[in-house]
Amino acid sequence: MEQKVLVAHGTANGSTQEIAETVAEVLRTTGITAEVLPARSVTELDRYEAVVVGGALYAGRWHKDARRFVRRHRGALAHRPVWFFSSGPLDSTASQRDIPPVPGVKRAMARLDARGHVTFGGCLTEGAQGRIARMILRNGKGGDFRDFAAIEDWAMGVAKELGAMTHR
Ligand SMILES: Cc1cc2nc3c(=O)[nH]c(=O)nc-3n(C[C@H](O)[C@H](O)[C@H](O)COP(=O)(O)O)c2cc1C
Repeated sequence: MEQKVLVAHGTANGSTQEIAETVAEVLRTTGITAEVLPARSVTELDRYEAVVVGGALYAGRWHKDARRFVRRHRGALAHRPVWFFSSGPLDSTASQRDIPPVPGVKRAMARLDARGHVTFGGCLTEGAQGRIARMILRNGKGGDFRDFAAIEDWAMGVAKELGAMTHR
């Protein structure tokens, strides 16, 4: 049976969307049908068997689109396998160690009995919106710290768990 998975993302500058797209590409290599959508544009989850939600981190919280998505769809999410990822640190820490979810995401994980969470490195490059973003860039603290090999590995783990669920 076809398995359809939604990868929803909350992003301000687009780098979390690219992570979501990479996750979906990996899922597709295993025969899963994966759709990537901005979290704010999703109206219902009926046609998805499982959901991955990714949020960019801003001031210790997920981007509001990801937070609102989880709130709006909490009923449907509670009845599906759910994985979360966060994207944020503008250094190599996320590649070196496991960075736990921020408190709001941790609470959502507990409420929804989420299967897993990972924090990936973030990305902030020229053209990013906002005063603080421009300040970070001016101070030479920007860069792309996303580890696409780690993103692919994590997505493969999700695919394997999904496969194990359907072949039981
Ligand atoms: C104003 C501002 C606040 C940020 N706050 C955090 C934070 O609290 N934790 C974190 O890990 N990264 C933080 N970051 C880094 C972003 O999460 C990172 O740039 C991320 O990749 C942005 O994702 P996006 O391109 O999808 O919007 C912050 C960046 C900016 C510009």
